[in-house]
Amino acid sequence: MDPSVLVPTPDTLPVSWGWFQILLIVTLFLHIILMNVMLGTGIIAFVSLFRNNGSATHLSRDISGKLPFALAFTVNFGIAPLLFVQVLYGNFLYASSVLMATFWLSVIGLLIVSYYLAYIFNYKYDSFESGRLLLLGFSVTAMLLIGFLMSNNFTMMQRPDVWVRYFDKPTGLLLNLGDPTLFPRYLHFITAAIAVGGLSIALFYQYLYQRGDESALERVQYGCNWFGYATIVNFGFGFWFFGSLPAFVHNIKTLTGSLIALFLLAAIILGGFSIVFSLRGRVMQTLYTVLPTIFVMILVRDLVRVAYLKPYFSLSDLTVVPQYSPFILFLIFFIGGLVLVWWMLRLGWRALNNREVQS
Ligand code: HEM
Repeated sequence: MDPSVLVPTPDTLPVSWGWFQILLIVTLFLHIILMNVMLGTGIIAFVSLFRNNGSATHLSRDISGKLPFALAFTVNFGIAPLLFVQVLYGNFLYASSVLMATFWLSVIGLLIVSYYLAYIFNYKYDSFESGRLLLLGFSVTAMLLIGFLMSNNFTMMQRPDVWVRYFDKPTGLLLNLGDPTLFPRYLHFITAAIAVGGLSIALFYQYLYQRGDESALERVQYGCNWFGYATIVNFGFGFWFFGSLPAFVHNIKTLTGSLIALFLLAAIILGGFSIVFSLRGRVMQTLYTVLPTIFVMILVRDLVRVAYLKPYFSLSDLTVVPQYSPFILFLIFFIGGLVLVWWMLRLGWRALNNREVQS
């Protein structure tokens, strides 16, 4: 069967696709960073507790208070890219979401479970000593499962050739396990999350150190080490991921292929610098090199999708039926929303500082 007959006709767009593409990249960048902070610090806190046989550790206690917030931000900043990716690739994403519908819908349940457990872990940190490790362990496992389902859906959407499996198993229980890119891609994301989690720990303790807490210094290097070693491992997963991609995706003779090569080269150089900086304990330099690395990687991820879908679809095929006013209104609310979130965070930060100064 020709898989292209399975691809639904796309909806029209109110403005040119470029606008949605920029919004998708920017909001996905925010989502991925927040997800990394949430998942990475969750995993590191778990390891810290596990090594201490479940007894309280300074680090896991500090992280317990922040995990529910990180989760809330990750979810909220996931909704925006979900909207934009549906606008641009709805005809692919809806199809793959239906094929794995049972798993896809379970993301909501997993989120609720993860959220509740993170809250209980925080509120009962001292009183619920024996269950501490389990609470955090299950919360993090639910997050890992969500990430795995995300990788399944975002790889299956770009492979209409595997959709035909539906006719043998019309149950909404299909995953994309046969795709050679799935596991390296997933491991690449998770290891990056661990690295960024380590860096956020380093940043947090660096802040406390600058405010006079001498004991925070050793935790700065601890966080940096997590970043550095996880990123070294991630170079391995990255090359494995690249090697698993079909040749036509990164064919240097195509525009997409040469852009992928260029961006990858930039990411490898920046990533290399970030490792050196982190192992030397230079927190801010690590941050300044890793943020553009993540951004460039998100561009590569998008280009990979463009290349995969080329036989079926190109964004420039989308028909524009101009309707500027709803889009302008949306942009005003979007920017206003971001400003409000920024203002709220500043207020929270100031309140925290005042409390610390008073105590
Ligand atoms: C615990 C919570 C979450 C985790 C661990 C997580 C993790 C991930 C990961 C690993 C990816 C990349 C997948 C890949 O490309 O292989 C991803 C992408 C994405 N996530 Fe999340 N996510 C979470 C929650 C959410 C939620 C709640 C939403 C939406 C409401 C969301 C929306 C998205 C979207 C739209 C993308 C990809 C967009 C694109 O393909 O351009 N995420 N997420």
